[in-house]
Amino acid sequence: MSSQSYETRLNEWREQIDLCIKDELRSSIYPEEFKEILDYALFPGGKRLRPVLFLEWHSLTAPPDERALKFACAIEIMHCYSLVHDDMPCMDNDDVRRGKPSLHKKYGEGKALLAGDALLNMAYRMLAEAADTENRMVLNRLVSYFGGDGGIIHGQYLDLYGNASDINELMKMYAKKTAALISVACVTGYLFPMYSFDLNISDILNYVDTTERMGADRFADPQSAAAVLFGETIKFGVSFGIAFQIYDDLSEYISGERSDGTTVIDYMDLEEAKKLLNEYLNLAISTLDNYYDADTRYIREIAKSIVIV
Ligand code: IPE
Ligand code: IPE
Ligand code: MG
Ligand code: MG
Repeated sequence: MSSQSYETRLNEWREQIDLCIKDELRSSIYPEEFKEILDYALFPGGKRLRPVLFLEWHSLTAPPDERALKFACAIEIMHCYSLVHDDMPCMDNDDVRRGKPSLHKKYGEGKALLAGDALLNMAYRMLAEAADTENRMVLNRLVSYFGGDGGIIHGQYLDLYGNASDINELMKMYAKKTAALISVACVTGYLFPMYSFDLNISDILNYVDTTERMGADRFADPQSAAAVLFGETIKFGVSFGIAFQIYDDLSEYISGERSDGTTVIDYMDLEEAKKLLNEYLNLAISTLDNYYDADTRYIREIAKSIVIV
């Protein structure tokens, strides 16, 4: 493993992720034509960033097994549902996703709505199937929180209807719509192999509050000594996730693509936005120094992949 190039490792993770998602789809009893639509939403995939982050954080402690892979893929499927709905005319009205017609463009809105719903349900079933211990059920609750009121849906609501009044408001929205799922992929990946961890749901919700604050002040402190590394993982995920959304905004802007909504460029110029991206990214990377014995080099590689010079 030590001599493995990151490219090779990434491709191996992606192969495993694709196989697991294919298997899940194959075993479903939906009509074949609907399964094709779901396949269209899932393949070819994008970067598979969230499950790869899960698997890398898991690998700090132990090699992921099939259950862990299933949990990671559930998070990816949740991400894919959010993209199908995000592109619909009632949301961003985007015709293209991952270089091909967005799902509603190809199949119509009714099927896109149902496909998104089906993917979200599939994700929750897989999470439930993967969680075989009480601790892992806590992780499920965490995913559902960050997928809903603490994350994606809350963030998408603010994006569509919130009119962020300044950059801090925008960062808070990014913390929810994008960084929460990325963060929960890191945290659950980190905790999944630990059969016992000294955290209960209220410790966890304290850190969800940290996520809330991350948008405004970027240096929130962990609140209980027992949860320091958990807090550091959340901090990594939220900071990296916000940086990732800024990177997404800037990549679109630099390539001259039309933006669907408010982006960081509405609040500052390109140079300032690059600085902000670097600030969040450096904060994310600096948290990795706290995992003394663990080999964080692959996570660092992922973080560096969103540098814009
Ligand atoms: C796109 O996410 C939406 C954002 C949150 C910025 P990704 O860039 O991870 O999408 P895929 O899965 O690689 O296509
Ligand atoms: C997508 O955000 C975030 C979610 C789907 C939760 P954007 O709308 O900014 O992302 P793209 O540019 O369509 O991928
Ligand atoms: Mg959107
Ligand atoms: Mg969009």
